[in-house]
Amino acid sequence: MKKIIETAEENILHTYNRYNIVLDHGDGVYVYDTEGKRYLDFYSGIGVYGLGNSNKEFNEALKTQVDKILHVSNLFYNEPAAKAAEALVKVSGMDKVFFTNSGAEAIEGALKSALKYAYNKDGKHDHEIIALDHSFHGRTCGALAVTGKAAYREAFEPLISKVNFATMNDYDSVYSLVNEKTCAIIMETVQGEGGIFPADKEFLQKIYKLCNEKDILLILDEVQCGMGRCGSMYAFMQYDVCPDILTSAKALGNGVPVGAFLVNKKVAAASLVAGDHGTTYGGNPFATAAVCEVLRQYEKLDIVSHVKALTPYLESRLDELVNKYDCITSRRGMGFMQGLELNIAPSEVINAGIEKGILTLSAGSNVLRLLPPLIITDKDIDNMYNILDDVFAHI
Ligand SMILES: Cc1ncc(COP(=O)(O)O)c(C=O)c1O
Repeated sequence: MKKIIETAEENILHTYNRYNIVLDHGDGVYVYDTEGKRYLDFYSGIGVYGLGNSNKEFNEALKTQVDKILHVSNLFYNEPAAKAAEALVKVSGMDKVFFTNSGAEAIEGALKSALKYAYNKDGKHDHEIIALDHSFHGRTCGALAVTGKAAYREAFEPLISKVNFATMNDYDSVYSLVNEKTCAIIMETVQGEGGIFPADKEFLQKIYKLCNEKDILLILDEVQCGMGRCGSMYAFMQYDVCPDILTSAKALGNGVPVGAFLVNKKVAAASLVAGDHGTTYGGNPFATAAVCEVLRQYEKLDIVSHVKALTPYLESRLDELVNKYDCITSRRGMGFMQGLELNIAPSEVINAGIEKGILTLSAGSNVLRLLPPLIITDKDIDNMYNILDDVFAHI
């Protein structure tokens, strides 16, 4: 492992402080390092492996596609993209989809859709967006802003729009920022990176109503909390609301880099048109074959019902830890997206967990984040409990 870590550090730009292990292969809810040590996976590659590591049927579907065709570009049609689009539109209840290569690119497309919708309405360039404190939507920074063809940029300018930040679950803080320039409100249905904060039902329903009344577009970012993780195909489905624009990624590809933004009829009819948006790789047959197989297995295994059924057990075992250890102050989350708030640094727990054979994550500054594969069983939850119990007992 030492040699691989040295080579990586010598050559990869150091933008991450990585843990000192080299992951080599996976099997279901387990991941192994290059020295054969086994780890119980309670991070899923940051919420990616819904169907678990090295899922055999998934791998076979990918291999079949590799031997057929990997890429065609969006200048031509391809069958996996058509099928993936049909399946994703069906399970999301949205109207049209655009496939991207990542979550951040899905956000870019979502914002461009909202800006174009507003521009089509009033022809103005001064639209504003409302986002929330502690949100996380990705790391890109305006590739279009430096693109030298005005036709590509015009409808979306200024490319870095004015963004006003409100507070999650504080409706008045959102309402006070709304003005005639507001074109979109963007939020995660359950904030992930920011510390595992689910939206309150009343809060999201009020935002939804406000958006409908004022023709502001509601963008729900479900890159992390979507795809069954919270016990419904998309978390918003538990709130009796519908976004105008939805973003999805991570578990959508189960390890293959793919994302998507989806729009409802209203946005589809009055926003992006041919020439407005594009990508070389997005929606290529390899990535969309992955989406097809993911959605096929979700249906076959009824992943959503499984998450829903097992959530109370996961929560009860985590609550046992909360009650047992003073350094855990509370638990919050939805489905298999859970956070333990700590009064010690999460890195202490994560590092001790690695020693004892479990992979977990942090969120915000003081939360231990748990994002297990969606296929875990009650036995895996018991294993998680036993390892974390051991970790906390020795901290
Ligand atoms: C809610 C949310 N939105 C967007 C992103 C960005 O996705 P990606 O890292 O695939 O660009 C993330 C990544 O963690 C996320 O959690």
